[in-house]
Amino acid sequence: MLESLNISVPSSSFIDQDWDSYTEEDHAVWGLLYARRMSDLERNGSRLFLEGASALGLRQDRVPDLSDVNRLLAGRTGWCAVPVSGFLPPRQFFDCLALRRFPTTVKVRPRAQLDYLPEPDIFHDVFGHVPLHANPEFAGFLQRFGEIAVSATTPDAVERMARLFWFTVEFGLINEAGHTRVYGSGLISSAGDCANALSGNCERRPFSLEGVMAQPYVIDQLQDVLFVVDSFQQLFHALDDAAGLA
Ligand SMILES: [Fe+2]
Repeated sequence: MLESLNISVPSSSFIDQDWDSYTEEDHAVWGLLYARRMSDLERNGSRLFLEGASALGLRQDRVPDLSDVNRLLAGRTGWCAVPVSGFLPPRQFFDCLALRRFPTTVKVRPRAQLDYLPEPDIFHDVFGHVPLHANPEFAGFLQRFGEIAVSATTPDAVERMARLFWFTVEFGLINEAGHTRVYGSGLISSAGDCANALSGNCERRPFSLEGVMAQPYVIDQLQDVLFVVDSFQQLFHALDDAAGLA
């Protein structure tokens, strides 16, 4: 998980998941979130996300054990979900991406905050993000993104890369077989954000690197502008130009 770029917080650390410490309530909350989102994502989620979730063995009845997930990921793309205690500073986060390591929080949100949580939890990070890491094209894009973002040295360059991350990895949409579907984790993991993204309240623009890098975003609000890609290959190729701007 990436620390917001203008907020200073104590550094987080790498931790163990300690899967045995999850309570029955944790598993029940995970199951509730999983069931609610999957029934919607079967219609509105990227097929590539659904394929990844299936390939990694994500299940409704229990919080995923990252050692199982990572064993399956290793054989597909070499990505690995690495447990962390909270937000990482941007440079450390991008360094991890360049190494195909995705920092993930491992706590389950409280039932009282089922629909909205300001900070990430395992549902956002693992259900929302990790399935696409099983997709070779997205896996290559995310690693290359990390390599370029690490090299961003000026505040303007860092902001441009943050916008690219926001409008793809977090809030991206994709055209699939004539349908506009969601793949960004903020949309995958949130019913409200997903419904907004596909509604008339959100302007959906064709993805362009220039358009994304010129578009400010606001966290903790429903998005009024998002971008739609035709494929993850399109994203990967856009990074050739991003490298010259970072
Ligand atoms: Fe995220």
